[in-house]
Amino acid sequence: MKIGMLTGGGDCPGLNAVIRAVVRKGSFHYDDEFVGFMEGWRGLLEDKTMELSLSTVGGILPRGGTILRTSRTNPAKHEGGLQLCIDNLKKHGCDALIAIGGDDTLSVAKKLFDSGVKVVGVPKTIDNDLSGTDFTFGFDTAVNVASGAIDRVHTTAEAHNRVIVVEVMGRDSGWIAAYSGIAGGADVILVPEIPFDIEEVAELIRQRHARGRYFSIVVAAEGARFMGHDVETQNGGADSRDEFGHLHLGGIGQTVAKEIEKRTGFESRSVVLGHIQRGGSPSAFDRVLATRYGLGAIDMVHRGEFGLMAALRGNKIISIPLAEAIASNRKCDKEILDAATGILDKLDAKVP
Ligand code: F6P
Repeated sequence: MKIGMLTGGGDCPGLNAVIRAVVRKGSFHYDDEFVGFMEGWRGLLEDKTMELSLSTVGGILPRGGTILRTSRTNPAKHEGGLQLCIDNLKKHGCDALIAIGGDDTLSVAKKLFDSGVKVVGVPKTIDNDLSGTDFTFGFDTAVNVASGAIDRVHTTAEAHNRVIVVEVMGRDSGWIAAYSGIAGGADVILVPEIPFDIEEVAELIRQRHARGRYFSIVVAAEGARFMGHDVETQNGGADSRDEFGHLHLGGIGQTVAKEIEKRTGFESRSVVLGHIQRGGSPSAFDRVLATRYGLGAIDMVHRGEFGLMAALRGNKIISIPLAEAIASNRKCDKEILDAATGILDKLDAKVP
């Protein structure tokens, strides 16, 4: 078979491991040929391709980013865009397409499937917010980066008697904040799922410091928000959105730090981890998961399981409908949120 492949949306450690697994299994086991469409859906729209073969995927397993590059291009926002994608797939003689991406990329994959394209999806996002799969690759690496950064922030906060707020990614879900906050031993964890009362946060820090602690670490998800308020955006305006309509989030860490300093008098700082969480080499866990997704996807193509996405359920790779994966944004599990709050200091606790 001839199979097209693309990576769309924000990049994510492990993308190259998926590409490598697909090409290796496809070449060795199925005699497949591949064509790589560059820069996400833009490559299909503009017919930008690269060779994908055993030699082009050699040595890419530990590399971050994606050799296919990526973009947030949405063909549905371009006149005749979806038809152009279909035409270019035909032009290259592709029998099937493997689309590696998050909910945005996979929503386009679903539209193409509905128009007759034989598509298989692979779930990707550091945010871990795709429905139907237990974990997306890239999440573990992002959590490792964030918890490593929290460890570093701890020592400088402690040395200076400061409160430091660490802003992490995650869009509308608190997976990265909850996991890295637990792993990094944060004192306060703010997630999009639970709007917070800033006076409660300030009081918690006051009580902690009154018990003899002289520094605090707060982890704030970029999508966390004050009770009764909207999320904070990078340009302070709601009109700053990507082609899929997502706001460019950011700024909550700095706002929280300022409010804490104002309310408690404790010197406060903020740090935004930003794209550092997405860059660099994937963790061993993500390399294995991404490889398993890639192998799952190429097998799905050969079983004719189109309109489906490879998914992880209880450590098994299965296939689920793309429609299920994109149906809703997956919030952080309640049990994880309970763990994140359960381990923290409690307001007005009677501490012996
Ligand atoms: O979806 C992944 C993600 O990293 C989000 O956590 C973040 O809000 C967004 O992408 C940032 O996007 P960009 O790279 O376009 O700034």
